[in-house]
Amino acid sequence: MSILVESLTKMYGEQAAVDQISFKANQGEIVGFLGPNGAGKTTTMKILTCFLPQTDGVAKVCGFDTNTHSMEVRKRIGYLPEHNPLYKDMYVKEYLRFIAGLHRLKDPKNLVDQMIQRTGLTREQHKLIGSLSKGYRQRVGLAQAMLHNPSVLILDEPVSGLDPNQLIEIRQLIKDLGKEKTVIFSSHIMQEVQALCDRVVIINKGKLVANDTIDNLRKKVFVEGTIHVEFDKKVAVQQLKKIGGIIDVQTNNSKQFVLKSQAGLDIRPHLFNFAMDSGYVLLELSEQKPTIEDIFQKLTK
Ligand SMILES: Nc1ncnc2c1ncn2[C@@H]1O[C@H](COP(=O)(O)OP(=O)(O)OP(=O)(O)O)[C@@H](O)[C@H]1O
Ligand SMILES: [Mg+2]
Repeated sequence: MSILVESLTKMYGEQAAVDQISFKANQGEIVGFLGPNGAGKTTTMKILTCFLPQTDGVAKVCGFDTNTHSMEVRKRIGYLPEHNPLYKDMYVKEYLRFIAGLHRLKDPKNLVDQMIQRTGLTREQHKLIGSLSKGYRQRVGLAQAMLHNPSVLILDEPVSGLDPNQLIEIRQLIKDLGKEKTVIFSSHIMQEVQALCDRVVIINKGKLVANDTIDNLRKKVFVEGTIHVEFDKKVAVQQLKKIGGIIDVQTNNSKQFVLKSQAGLDIRPHLFNFAMDSGYVLLELSEQKPTIEDIFQKLTK
């Protein structure tokens, strides 16, 4: 087990920033760590990376307890902290060599060169970190996290503020990393989560509210359905509202409708029967699957 979190709690005075959460992550898994602002994601990550002690519970990385074996944990973990703090007056290459020195890596020159290439920093390697654009700073942050070839990567919002091209490149990098390592990353970009994660852990106000694959959550978490329907003739809204299970009707022309149905209910057969019984022809009847945003909102509102 690469990451093991058991009944983890962090108190700030009276506030439980992390409240008895438990989850695991295995090698070769990319886990999305989600939750609204202030949910406790960064706090959990700081505990896992030995930057903060917990108040209660257990956090282990590759079998080592973060409290009692912090050096062993640190050797095995790569961490990209939130807001990616870097020494702005160091040059990219100089900074990465410095990090290699901290880890006492053998052949640092070669390792740094390889990492510069891998993170697409070749053209920027001789620049001051302070003069880099946000996306390139993010790459430097990722490079320092990966330099000592850790088996677990903890990335706190690795893709925030990147342009669409950089996003795709960083996404690919994380995807590649996830093949051999354990990656846990937090993000508010649901598209990113959908593209990258095998599984998501969602927390809200410090408490765990979900730990599952996105597909399973779609099946388990009932969110209101959205159905697009089109008839050949005008239909009165009142007529549609009489069909059971419809909670909202929107239309611009009384022929095409966007309907909201009760959570967990498939109203398509009722719409089909309604059209048959009333002599309308159905030109379209389609259901929009709940997105990860819908699921997130349902679980954290
Ligand atoms: N040093 C601290 N002292 C007091 N409260 C803190 C401290 N650090 C964090 N908190 C509180 O703990 C809660 C969780 O914060 P945390 O930074 O873990 O949230 P988050 O899920 O990372 O949010 P975001 O998505 O905004 O980054 C917040 O209410 C925050 O104000
Ligand atoms: Mg945070």
